[in-house]
Order: sequence, then C-alpha cells, then structure tokens
Amino acid sequence: MRIMDGKALATKMQADLAQKTAQLKAEHGVRPGLLVILVGEDSASQVYVRNKERSALAAGFKSQVVRLPETVTEAELLRKIAAYNQDPAWHGILVQLPLPKHINEEKVLLAISPEKDVDGFHPTNMGKLWSGHPVMIPSTPAGIMELLKAYEVELVGKRALVIGRSNIVGKPMAQLLMDAHATVTIGHSRTQDLKALARQADILVVAIGQAKFVTRDFVKEGAVVIDVGMNRDDNGKLCGDVDFESVSEVASLITPVPGGVGPMTITMLMEQTYQAALRSIR
Ligand code: GUN
Repeated sequence: MRIMDGKALATKMQADLAQKTAQLKAEHGVRPGLLVILVGEDSASQVYVRNKERSALAAGFKSQVVRLPETVTEAELLRKIAAYNQDPAWHGILVQLPLPKHINEEKVLLAISPEKDVDGFHPTNMGKLWSGHPVMIPSTPAGIMELLKAYEVELVGKRALVIGRSNIVGKPMAQLLMDAHATVTIGHSRTQDLKALARQADILVVAIGQAKFVTRDFVKEGAVVIDVGMNRDDNGKLCGDVDFESVSEVASLITPVPGGVGPMTITMLMEQTYQAALRSIR
C-alpha cells in the first residue's frame, strides 16, 4: 500500500502557482483576486474560509473575506454579489456553504457570474462540465483528478464507484472519471448491497459523510481508495469516510485524512482563480 500524499502535491502546486502569479503580474499587471463571502458563524465554514484566504495570500493573490451576519437578508446578499460581479478586481467569487435557512441557496449560486464562479456550482458551469466542455470545475473532484494523475493511476476502462451524489463532489466526480474513460457507477446511502458493488471497483471515491463508513470488506484487493470525508470519530479525532487502518491493508493506494483530498481542494480553488484571471486578459 502507498499513501497518496495530497499535502505534498498541494505544496508543490502552490509553489508553482505563486510563480505563475508573479509572472502574470509582471507581464500583464494583473493580480488574481479571490473574494469569499461567509454568512453567519458556522465553525467549520470559518476554518475553511480562513484556509482559503491564507492560501490565496500565499499565492500572491488579492484576497478578501466578506463576513455577513446570520441575519443578513437574501436581497442584501444578492445585491452584494451583483456589485462584486461588476468589480474587475475579483476574478473569483464564492459564497461559502451552507447558508442560513432563510436564504435560498440556488438563487445565490445563480447570482454569481459564471465567469467568476470558481466553485463551479453555477448551473451554466455544471452544464458545461456535463456536456464535456468544462471551464470551472468543483475543486474537490478537480483535486482528486490531479492526485490520480500524479500517482499515475490507470483509469481507461477501469471500474470506478463514486459513493455520494452531491452537486459539489459526487456528480462532478463521476463526470470527470467518465471523461477519463473510466466506467462509472454512482452509489449512495439508498443503494442496495453497496458493499458488493464497491468490491467490484478498481477506483473507489468515498464522499458519503459518515465516519469510517467504508471498511475493509468494501474494498477489492489492490483498489485505489480516495477518501473525501472529514469527520470526528468517537474520540474526537479527525477521520474520513474510510476506515483507514483496515482498508490500507487491502488498497494499493489510499488518501489519508487529514493530508489527502483536503489540501488539494484548496489548491484547485486557487488554480481556478488564477485561470479565471488569465482568461480575463484574453
Ligand atoms: N462548503 C463545503 N464545501 C464547499 C465548497 O467547496 N465551496 C463552498 N462555497 N462551500 C462549501
């Protein structure tokens, strides 16, 4: 078994990105700008947003986090997004999810200009991805594809099972694997005999949001296992959706939590912001 070191790959990609960013500034006078909107006090979101800002600044981007109170109205949020859409300083705009219940998430995601939607959540960008012409790709699946590439995982003709069907991870992940010529199945919490299905997979991507859900008996000998989960176990320790200890005995490659998919997600968000800045000068 080999560990897929997302932290190491992310560190290398971030260094490359800082260099590309400096070059973009020197040659075109353009500094990539990432604007993050955070509504409310969700503690996980605060950590994610802080990490995004830190990463953006390390890459040499302009970066701002707009913190709005839990009580902000939907109309006010939409007005702010409309203003940032018009501001050429921002190449990437993202609204951290989840949003408070009184705000319609779909409306908010629709309001972000597709050219600045670095999360790739706007229906236009989702549609482009599904029709095989991706522009903005959700960061987590994009980061997983980079990891698979870096570790030279053969995908052509292989069986891939994605466990989880969210718009953020499961659906775009399936599409990217299909584009890479894998034979893809999406499983989820209602799938019958998920274990038997999983045991057929050469590549297993797990994003079901349940601590240590995938155990050794889900995994074929030699499979590649990607763990998107971020949970706390009974002892309060950070863990994924995969039971790393038992699964690492059968997998050929596996991502750890932390240090696997997570660092790649942030890195890809920065990469997409850089790409959006690059497109803005063309
Ligand atoms: N909340 C959890 N993951 C994400 C993400 O990738 N983007 C945004 N905007 N919110 C999230």
